[in-house]
Amino acid sequence: MSGAGGEEALRVENIVKRFGAVTALDGVSITLRRGEILGILGDNGAGKSTLMKILTGFHQQTSGKLFVNGAETMLRSVDHARALGIECVYQDLALANSLSIYHNMFLNREIVHRGPFRLLNNRAMRQRAAECLEDIGVHVPSVDLPVEQLSGGQRQAIAVARAVNSDARILLLDEPLAAMGAREAGLIIDLIVRLKQKGDLSIAMIMHNYAQTLDIADHIVLMQRGRVTYESEAARTSVPELMDIVRREYRDLRNGRQ
Ligand SMILES: Nc1ncnc2c1ncn2[C@@H]1O[C@H](COP(=O)(O)OP(=O)(O)OP(=O)(O)O)[C@@H](O)[C@H]1O
Ligand SMILES: [Mg+2]
Repeated sequence: MSGAGGEEALRVENIVKRFGAVTALDGVSITLRRGEILGILGDNGAGKSTLMKILTGFHQQTSGKLFVNGAETMLRSVDHARALGIECVYQDLALANSLSIYHNMFLNREIVHRGPFRLLNNRAMRQRAAECLEDIGVHVPSVDLPVEQLSGGQRQAIAVARAVNSDARILLLDEPLAAMGAREAGLIIDLIVRLKQKGDLSIAMIMHNYAQTLDIADHIVLMQRGRVTYESEAARTSVPELMDIVRREYRDLRNGRQ
């Protein structure tokens, strides 16, 4: 399913994004293929989150084109992107901590009883939430637990599960492993790999750790100062090669400034 021959799920062409005098993205072209995991690497301030926010309809590009499933589209809002099957998961921000796991999984798309009062159908939501978590292999003591009682890794898994539960075809993850220990990161990595194996879900994820990225991604791009400076099949590059590119860039910058 993955690799250079696959159909494209999401593509940007020559995207520029300016915030006043700041050029956050300076002509970025990236393709996410169907069924593929794309790892986006890069320095702080390179423009990774800005790119994600354009892909998820939160920001609109200053110029450049965006294609969803091959059709040129201007994403007007997060709801518009969501209607096209694009979901984004931000670390921690996405969940209501005092609510139960199952309420979180149906946040803003609650199942209600028929009738004039639109009462919540807790039973249906509880059951479907448990099924969905079981389905993707996320283990929690009970879906009745408030999210604040979960670990960071479990919480992130719930956020991913919620996005998947919404029939997302394109999943965008902004640093899903940030601030996580090895065990929690392992939980999320397993989940992402299982989701990929299940079908034609396409995933773009911003990552910091090169080794973890090369482990799970099919394709990687490296962003520096608002541009894509390197791109490769994950299998065709290595941690030393990526570190070398970043080091060289850093050295050039320093020399240029002196
Ligand atoms: N809303 C905004 N208004 C003004 N400038 C912004 C805004 N959002 C981002 N920027 C600027 O755009 C540039 C890219 O920021 P962005 O958050 O995309 O970087 P990043 O690659 O995600 O970095 P990090 O690894 O630190 O998360 C930075 O110089 C940042 O200051
Ligand atoms: Mg960022």
